[in-house]
Amino acid sequence: MPKFNDINLDKWKDSEVWTDSLWIIPKRDSSGKHSGSYHGNFVPQIPHQLILRYTKKNDIVFDPFVGSGTTTYEAESLKRNFIGIDIQKKLLVDIKKNIDNKKNFFDLLKGDSTKKETFEEVKKLLRRHKKKNVQLAILHPPYFDILKFTKSNTDLSNASSLKSFLEKFSLVLKNTISILEKDRYLAIVIGDKYTAGEWVPLGFYCMNEAQKLGLTLKSVIIKNMEGNRAKRNKEAIWKYRALASDYYIFKHEYIFIFKVN
Ligand SMILES: C[S@@+](CC[C@H](N)C(=O)[O-])C[C@H]1O[C@@H](n2cnc3c(N)ncnc32)[C@H](O)[C@@H]1O
Repeated sequence: MPKFNDINLDKWKDSEVWTDSLWIIPKRDSSGKHSGSYHGNFVPQIPHQLILRYTKKNDIVFDPFVGSGTTTYEAESLKRNFIGIDIQKKLLVDIKKNIDNKKNFFDLLKGDSTKKETFEEVKKLLRRHKKKNVQLAILHPPYFDILKFTKSNTDLSNASSLKSFLEKFSLVLKNTISILEKDRYLAIVIGDKYTAGEWVPLGFYCMNEAQKLGLTLKSVIIKNMEGNRAKRNKEAIWKYRALASDYYIFKHEYIFIFKVN
């Protein structure tokens, strides 16, 4: 058994864990506590797969962009501990109310993940739990300015330029690496954008920021974006627009898997 998960290799054929780099997810898992109503959330299958693949029971999953808590609820149902950050306090209060697993801890911190001070608070929490590190980080940042989450200038979706967005994202990565256990994993979930007649490969830019910080790229997973809320029920008009122009419609996003050396 790999030392970073609980997969029983004696029963490998029965494993629900996906091992291909193409994830076609036909439908959002709407079971359990996931309401799915937060615009900008990801499907629960993403953290579910990552947590099973890269953590053991009672490891700590870390998420510096908690949003509506999709990762929190998956950590809860898979009996992992969780620490998460978001700039929006209300979201965190709502998630906390929904957690009823008493055997693991679920710490939700309101703060700016680009700031060292926020991570000083995370380190204090770790000390309180007599832990030194987290074992898996899942980062699902805003896709730059595609969707504005708040009006705050600490919000990455309000970064003044692509350069500034990438600098801020790099700070979040650096802070996250400072609490991540060696030989463990970090995943970035992100899509691209299209602006002023040009495809902006936001995913690859973010991947590059992680590589610049010395992380080892282990996988580039392509995930379908079926049922994207902005495009739902508008497939015909999107197809017409694409045919009338020269571009392709976004149907995928990326999950980059890195190992910390
Ligand atoms: C793409 S959403 C994450 C959605 C989440 N995975 C879910 O399924 O609900 C990005 C989140 O990052 C938060 N955010 C933006 N800038 C931030 C910052 N500097 N520090 C912490 N959180 C931030 C936003 O409030 C938003 O909730």
